[in-house]
Amino acid sequence: MQSPHAFFIQLQAIMKFYTVLLLCFLFNFTQQLSPQDHCACALTNKDKAFPHDTLNSVNDDASKCNQDVTPQKSLEIERLLLGLEHRLPQLLEDVSILEKEDDGDLYGVVSLQVIENELKEIKDHVDRLKRTTQGHQHLSTDSTKQLTNLRAELQDLEMYDTFQVEKKRQDNQRLKRALNECKGEHELDTQPTPPPHGLCPHGRFMNITGPEVFSAGEYPGSFKYGAWGRDPKPEAGKERWYWRVMLTSNNRYANYVRFYSSLSTLVVGVGMPDNVQIHVANPTTNTVQGPNVVLYEKALYYNCYNKDDVCRFNLTSKTVSTLELPKGTRYNSKGNFCHLEECYPYTDIDLATDESGVWVIYSTAENFGNLVLSKVEEGEPPTLGQTWHTSLFKQAVTNTFMACGILYGTRYVDKDTEEIFYSYDTSTGVEKFDIGIFMTKMAPNIYFLNYSPIDRMLYVYSEGNMVSYKVLFE
Ligand SMILES: *[C@@H]1O[C@H](CO)[C@@H](O)[C@H](O)[C@H]1NC(C)=O
Ligand SMILES: *[C@@H]1O[C@H](CO)[C@@H](O)[C@H](O)[C@H]1NC(C)=O
Repeated sequence: MQSPHAFFIQLQAIMKFYTVLLLCFLFNFTQQLSPQDHCACALTNKDKAFPHDTLNSVNDDASKCNQDVTPQKSLEIERLLLGLEHRLPQLLEDVSILEKEDDGDLYGVVSLQVIENELKEIKDHVDRLKRTTQGHQHLSTDSTKQLTNLRAELQDLEMYDTFQVEKKRQDNQRLKRALNECKGEHELDTQPTPPPHGLCPHGRFMNITGPEVFSAGEYPGSFKYGAWGRDPKPEAGKERWYWRVMLTSNNRYANYVRFYSSLSTLVVGVGMPDNVQIHVANPTTNTVQGPNVVLYEKALYYNCYNKDDVCRFNLTSKTVSTLELPKGTRYNSKGNFCHLEECYPYTDIDLATDESGVWVIYSTAENFGNLVLSKVEEGEPPTLGQTWHTSLFKQAVTNTFMACGILYGTRYVDKDTEEIFYSYDTSTGVEKFDIGIFMTKMAPNIYFLNYSPIDRMLYVYSEGNMVSYKVLFE
């Protein structure tokens, strides 16, 4: 039997052994965790790393593509073509003058120089046109290639959308669109209220620039009187269409509307094959009298033949409904637009469009031949809405138009300049005679003038030419 002392000594020895063992272990451990080392976790990811570089380069390519391809580029060609169209007849005219008047002497030499200069200008123009079209061809092949690449790269990137974030976002957008469409349909059902007259969503009418478009279109040299423009509320799929009405009988009457599928086809003169006919005869009951007609929501509004009425020709149903103007309304060329030298025949009743719909401007004996303005309510049949009496004598004005519930009047300054000088605000009744906005004309007489709320342009028909100006708002 061991003595308790011996047992104690043995126990001490065992404890010493373990202490040494523990110290040894700790020593080893601290050695392993020396400051140079760190602890590392290996996380295995089954997915490939996200290619940030590819995304960045796709982003860069897309914004470069956006910078390269702009609507201005196609306008450039249109502008150059218009310039050429303007210059060629001028050259022709000058050549024929030279032929007639060449006395083989000084006059002939001078004219020859003029023509040489013109030829040089035309050559410059053609060169620029050539360069621009070549540039466009390159641009369009390059862009197509770039777009195909971008598409492929984006599809590759979509594979990284493992949590389907992007896919869900797209689904959300689709749903949102559907919701909005649904809302839109609902609102259509509940009749939109037009904006109050005079309340202009884009500020005060400040100035105009242009001409932007200048073209005789399909029938150069014919049909001095007429009208043109765009439907502010077009049929779906016809948003880019233009219309033109020409007074084909006696410069006074018209019986059809022509349509063009774009500005380019209008300028180049390629219309839709069929005229939209109001009546086979011209003139007869309900055909167009005078140039101041407008097209609004697939219907043509105009002064109808031999009456003091506004007619509305529904282009869908091909039927005409009429709106009687107040008693004493002057018509049949008694209350025309005029300047000092002449009056414009059959311009008694002027139709206009703006943000809030269709308006009619006329004069009455009751208002001493001064301008009267009425809103046209577009029911079936159309009716006369609110009416305002101005103190501006109609025959002291060359034309009128409406923009944002404000009536504007123009006067003839000289053969190159027309002035927007007058305004009448239907929301306040305030009249101004000092507007002072000047228009550069392409021909002396403006027979038709209207504001188009969809593109905020003034459309002018002037001695067979179609001209447009951009309106600048505050
Ligand atoms: C309108 O624009 C023309 C030319 O762009 C400029 O000469 C004229 O001063 C402007 N008028 C006003 C009232 O701003
Ligand atoms: C034109 O006629 C069509 C078909 O009859 C009709 O749906 C539409 O409301 C009419 N437009 C106007 C402005 O009355």
